[in-house]
Amino acid sequence: MTHVDDNETSLRTLAQARYRASYPHGDETLNETLALMLRHKSVRKYTSEPLSDHDLDLIITAAQSASSSSITQTWTVIAIRDKDRLKRISELLGGRAAMGNLGYVEECAVFLVWVADYYRAEQVILSQGVSPEDMGFLENTLVSFTDIGIASQNALLAAESLGLGGVYVGTLRNNPEGISAELGIPQGAFPALGMSIGHPDPSEGTGVKPRLPLETVLHHEIYNTEAWKPGVATYENTYRDYFAEQGVANASWIRSIVRRLGYVAGMKGRDKMQAELAKQGLDSR
Ligand SMILES: Cc1cc2nc3c(=O)[nH]c(=O)nc-3n(C[C@H](O)[C@H](O)[C@H](O)COP(=O)(O)O)c2cc1C
Repeated sequence: MTHVDDNETSLRTLAQARYRASYPHGDETLNETLALMLRHKSVRKYTSEPLSDHDLDLIITAAQSASSSSITQTWTVIAIRDKDRLKRISELLGGRAAMGNLGYVEECAVFLVWVADYYRAEQVILSQGVSPEDMGFLENTLVSFTDIGIASQNALLAAESLGLGGVYVGTLRNNPEGISAELGIPQGAFPALGMSIGHPDPSEGTGVKPRLPLETVLHHEIYNTEAWKPGVATYENTYRDYFAEQGVANASWIRSIVRRLGYVAGMKGRDKMQAELAKQGLDSR
């Protein structure tokens, strides 16, 4: 049930895997773009095959092709392939223990650090003899983080289209100061998000992870404050079944949300983010 073929294009099959429920639309073959999106799964285990410059450049060109707020392009991405540096980064983030005992940072073919970057804009403004007034406003931080979300997803999809796999690494924000020092990230720039990419090791065996029911997140015309209840109840079973098939008994999405978002401890130290941003000059006022 959780397994979906790498070349699956049937909407019925892919929607069934994503929701484990009936779907309002039926038998059709999806185009490659949609099929790729619906087949997505995070990949955390890789072979030792390296990533070519050709593929890396192509992935980042896809990222740069994404929309950008006012075309400010306030991000930079640092590609790390040096094994010693990967190991140091992994350790700065808490090592394998902080990553479910997995080596997806140390063992990926490339680790991408997506940097929210107002250093470049500041240099451009200074070069014009203007003293920048807008650095550090929350709105600008949000603009940069939003652009990173959009661009990085383009990168991940591009990688997946090349037969690669990857996973976002929000754990990067466990230690923005250490990462900034390791990578020489200047004031005005902040390591926002990590991403591991590599050639998938088929032994990983994860499946397409189900999502909340469509009607729970798709509201028509106005917000439906009641939609969450039936959707979450249904999803609790779907989620448990998926993990049971993965060999994890009694998984609960509700429990994981309470643990992650119900207590400050669930933020694993990342509740200090405003201060961390300020250290890099993005004080988010
Ligand atoms: C912003 C962001 C940060 C994430 N950070 C991590 C992470 O640090 N470690 C990890 O194993 N997965 C991370 N993930 C991956 C999610 O756990 C994953 O997308 C989710 O469980 C759904 O699984 P799927 O991507 O296989 O569909 C992150 C995803 C996003 C979007």
